[in-house]
Amino acid sequence: MFDQTHEARLFQPLTLPNGQIIPNRIAKAAMEENMADRGQLPGAALLGLYRQWGAGGAGMILTGNVMVAADAVTGPGGVVLDARQPQDPFRDWAAAGNAHGARMWMQINHPGRQVFAGTNPEAIAPSAVPVEMGRFSKLFTQPRAMTEDDIDRVIGQFATTAELAEKAGFDGVEIHAAHGYLLSQFLSPLTNRRTDQWGGTLENRARIVIEIVRAVRARVSQDFGVGVKLNSADFQKGGFDVADAAAVVRLLNRQAVDLVEISGGSYESPAMHGRPQQQAKRASTARREAYFLDFAREIVAVAEMPIMVTGGIRSRATAEHALAPEDCRPGVAMVGIAQALAYAPDLPNRWKLAEDAVQLPSIRWKSSLASLATMALTKLQLRRMGRGKPPTFRAWAPGVLVRDQLRTRRLNRNYRRWLAHRG
Ligand SMILES: Cc1cc2nc3c(=O)[nH]c(=O)nc-3n(C[C@H](O)[C@H](O)[C@H](O)COP(=O)(O)O)c2cc1C
Repeated sequence: MFDQTHEARLFQPLTLPNGQIIPNRIAKAAMEENMADRGQLPGAALLGLYRQWGAGGAGMILTGNVMVAADAVTGPGGVVLDARQPQDPFRDWAAAGNAHGARMWMQINHPGRQVFAGTNPEAIAPSAVPVEMGRFSKLFTQPRAMTEDDIDRVIGQFATTAELAEKAGFDGVEIHAAHGYLLSQFLSPLTNRRTDQWGGTLENRARIVIEIVRAVRARVSQDFGVGVKLNSADFQKGGFDVADAAAVVRLLNRQAVDLVEISGGSYESPAMHGRPQQQAKRASTARREAYFLDFAREIVAVAEMPIMVTGGIRSRATAEHALAPEDCRPGVAMVGIAQALAYAPDLPNRWKLAEDAVQLPSIRWKSSLASLATMALTKLQLRRMGRGKPPTFRAWAPGVLVRDQLRTRRLNRNYRRWLAHRG
């Protein structure tokens, strides 16, 4: 077992299995910015944003998810990296993030069925199972089941994007196999109804993830980092659970994987933004805050690579608690922080000097719009940072959500035009 407890303190470096050194245990977790420039490329706004994070003190910076396929995007302002994209904008992006010594990793993703009909009218998925979100279901594209050729193509697309990321100066890639996107759709029995070698047993459902890790490894250098973001569970009846997650990590142990990040949920069950039902009053503050920590500790017990937990971390005390052993169970090797770094990009530097917590605006709506509004408010901060402005804590959520939808419509038109011209 990888020694997760050894000197597991916030500002001590971490050496990954491939020898790459991460200066400290804090990662800026992936946040889809939806801020791509023309041509679905990183531009001035993204560079401005990543310069701030690069100077903020996190040891690792994960980009928001970058699309491996031009015709399947999580949002119309998403960055696409395939063989037809120019390299220079990606070089600039990598340099913006790692200028102060942080390791800059690109998260790479295929959304599968989680695409909006207004953006991508066609979608592929392991099986033709559409997203089920009540009255919002019709916003999503009905997927078709992937053929063997589709599966081969997607494996190749992940490998190509990873290779290009390395050429552009990134230090690693994180393969997104969580949050209900394509690879997580393969892992979950609810969305993977296949009866061939890509479905059925857990080993079959995990095959595509393993094949992608292998294909990526074959195309990058040994010291380039390869990580996987995995759900601890999808929090749906009959879905992927923590025992499945542990089994997938056992399979990943046999591959050259440098880091596994633990999260949870999907669009249908957005647990990644907090799970109030889990927050029993008797749980300690740290456990209430870092809501996947108990799951992550279970994964640490079987993992041979370092484990990172993401979700709910706002204070230094919680981050340190996650790294420390508890009840004879080792802590995690790294903590991932998303939203708090959208409101305080220099939080790691502040933590070096003192305990400091960020209070995020909380949205208490009951509907599934709450998760969308949380994302919209956070993305507003990212766009402000991209323009050199400070975050705002006073934005009115319904207004931000509506403006976000209007912006998405405009971006949809630009994206579809770009895709059509590309041919
Ligand atoms: C605006 C926004 C965009 C996100 N985009 C991504 C993404 O591209 N990839 C990903 O793995 N997670 C994404 N997430 C989830 C975060 O990485 C993280 O798992 C989640 O926000 C919980 O961590 P936190 O409490 O520190 O924010 C996103 C979250 C937010 C708020």
